[in-house]
Amino acid sequence: MASAAPEAEKKEEREEQEQVVNPWEVSAGKGGIDYDKLVDQFGCQRLDATIIDRIGRLTGRPPHRFLRRGLFFAHRDLNEILDVYEKGEKFYLYTGRGPSSEALHLGHLVPFMFTKYLQDAFKVPLVIQLTDDEKFLWKNLTVEESKRLARENAKDIIACGFDIERTFIFSDFGFVGGAFYENMVKVARCVTYNKVVGIFGFTPEDHIGKSSFPPVQAVPSFPSSFPHLFSGNDQLRCLIPCAIDQDPYFRMTRDVAPRIGYQKPSLIESRFFPALQGENTKMSASDPNSAIYVTDTNKEIKTKVNKYAFSGGQDSEEKHRKLGANLEVDVPIKWLNFFLEDDDELENIKKEYKEGKLLTGEVKQILITVLSEMVERHKIARALVTEKMVDAYMARRPLPNMFG
Ligand code: TRP
Repeated sequence: MASAAPEAEKKEEREEQEQVVNPWEVSAGKGGIDYDKLVDQFGCQRLDATIIDRIGRLTGRPPHRFLRRGLFFAHRDLNEILDVYEKGEKFYLYTGRGPSSEALHLGHLVPFMFTKYLQDAFKVPLVIQLTDDEKFLWKNLTVEESKRLARENAKDIIACGFDIERTFIFSDFGFVGGAFYENMVKVARCVTYNKVVGIFGFTPEDHIGKSSFPPVQAVPSFPSSFPHLFSGNDQLRCLIPCAIDQDPYFRMTRDVAPRIGYQKPSLIESRFFPALQGENTKMSASDPNSAIYVTDTNKEIKTKVNKYAFSGGQDSEEKHRKLGANLEVDVPIKWLNFFLEDDDELENIKKEYKEGKLLTGEVKQILITVLSEMVERHKIARALVTEKMVDAYMARRPLPNMFG
């Protein structure tokens, strides 16, 4: 039957279809990612000022700037975790990384910087999953190469400063088995093929490795997957900091959890870190000029920011002094929003830039300084991470003081 939809409606339909967000693809509709729509579509909750204040109160420290500035913007049942914590019970954190590239860019570091803050603020244990199997299944990598990348990425993760007394890092190829595997099959039996197709969009041409993977990412949400850490503590709650594209995995996990007698994990979810070219998608590992890498030199940082960072400034100085910058689209301002710690300084920069008192080149220079310092700090920290340290973080061992 021919559709009778008027042109305008059809157009809207097309634009709606353009936004795709799942663990393997993020592409924005016309005006960039519509996060409000995403929250409604996925059925998560918005992180509002009340809950952010509550985090500040409970931890006795100011909420991280990623919370204050809205980079982490959505959640599922975060209040329940905070209720439990307020009563003096603890929880654990779970996050992860798919090791598909050698060097991480700043967008990759965001969840780890935030997780480090959560670990310090709440004083709780953390498990970090390196999904080398996922990347073997999805990318054209050998098992050996995926394993090597997992170890290399572990060094960057360790360089973020996680407390070794509270942190267990594992790779799927190295760790899956035992109680972890038992939980995987429990999850798998609860999820029909139709269901994974609905959640993840697998097609009949996709190999079956893809549909068998989601339980692997699901079960670190359950404390019984880690008998060496949480034995006898099967109802311990789990909080997962992640980017919103990982939500489908945990929708599935939360759906299954009560059916196998476990707690649903809670989530705290971030937006994507914008590419230098603008808000329309996340930074891409395949376009080195869209991102700043933790391995970039000061000179590369300077060139990339000056050359590629999309500016909301006017095209001539005269016009800029008169009209000021459009902060809504300005990438240097967006990046400073996430990386400049000082609230007053940030407000001041925004004000002066908007009024045309600060020029684009000056704002970019401030950003270059902030980024260079951050990258420099990371490089120094990473250079200090030895193979022995990687082994230590990845050792299957009890963490006796993990709640201390
Ligand atoms: N699938 C994620 C990726 O490709 C890796 C991952 C595994 C993860 N477990 C996680 C991310 C938990 C966030 C939270 O990067």
